[in-house]
Amino acid sequence: MTIPTALTDLLSIRYPIVSAAMGGEAGGALAAAVSAGGGLGLVGGGRGDREWVERELRLVTESTTAPWGIGFLSWAVDRSAVEHALSYRPTAVLLSFGDPTSLAVPVRAAGATLIIQVTDGDEARRALDAGADILVAQGSDAGGHCARDGIGTMSFVPTVVDLAGDVPVLAAGGIADGRAVAAALALGAAGVVIGTRFQATHEALVPAELSKALVGAVGADTEVNRTLDIARGADWPPRYPARTLRNEFLERWRGRDAELSADEAALSAYREAAARTDLAAVPVWAGQAVDRVTAITSAAELVGELAAETEAALRRITVRDR
Ligand SMILES: Cc1cc2nc3c(=O)[nH]c(=O)nc-3n(C[C@H](O)[C@H](O)[C@H](O)COP(=O)(O)O)c2cc1C
Repeated sequence: MTIPTALTDLLSIRYPIVSAAMGGEAGGALAAAVSAGGGLGLVGGGRGDREWVERELRLVTESTTAPWGIGFLSWAVDRSAVEHALSYRPTAVLLSFGDPTSLAVPVRAAGATLIIQVTDGDEARRALDAGADILVAQGSDAGGHCARDGIGTMSFVPTVVDLAGDVPVLAAGGIADGRAVAAALALGAAGVVIGTRFQATHEALVPAELSKALVGAVGADTEVNRTLDIARGADWPPRYPARTLRNEFLERWRGRDAELSADEAALSAYREAAARTDLAAVPVWAGQAVDRVTAITSAAELVGELAAETEAALRRITVRDR
């Protein structure tokens, strides 16, 4: 079985399913497993830590001959990080969060597929100007970083599809089973990017206690905040907060970002808690569809399961001529 779309045609893959470039968590093993399973696996290059990227890209190139890609945070990397990754010949490079214009140049020059994730209409237009081959429309249902005051996936995807014309659009945010993949295709998307659900796989570089927390959580347990980035000392631009599970630290410091930044004792207590992966403090990145994370599985099996569910959902949708 295949589920042909503009994405699968462009990249020669079986299913229109892409695993998110989760910085530091989506390593070579996860990307290779997703690609081997018929999707497109993305390595989470994040801020472009050279040693990490080198290790994980060696792993992915040794593990699969299928197409794979790598993603970077546009606000955090320079051109040399992208050029370094391109030397491993990825099929695709994803740029997210920030101005992709200058980073897009080496990607296009190398002939790799340029994917740009966007969170509002202006970012979508800028991505098209930068020459994106594929857009990812990330709705505010998403786990991890997202737009401040973002639009939900169901509403945002058609807007980007209309803006993008012939450029394929992938839906991201709150997609965690085949029903949601089918819904994204019905919205006009050519595929999906899934993060939260792929965190709960054996191949993801996620501590066991965090995956367990994801299995036990529901969407209502999540909240968009900057508090945990401030605690971590992560210098994300303010326009990109993150959706995480609620925890005690967040309950205590919600709405007090400036106060927290200046409270050395609180920051030091956070660092101590983080060193022992204390779930009462550390961020567990999770999207609103975290309810659908019910077990830790193998990534390749998950791709097959999502594809089968998508097929079943699409077959259920019929129109009858009386
Ligand atoms: C743990 C985690 C880390 C993420 N890191 C990145 C990242 O480094 N770069 C990026 O483009 N997106 C990142 N994302 C966001 C994804 O690209 C994607 O938009 C999102 O996961 C889709 O929503 P979902 O989590 O509901 O599937 C991350 C998401 C998660 C859950």
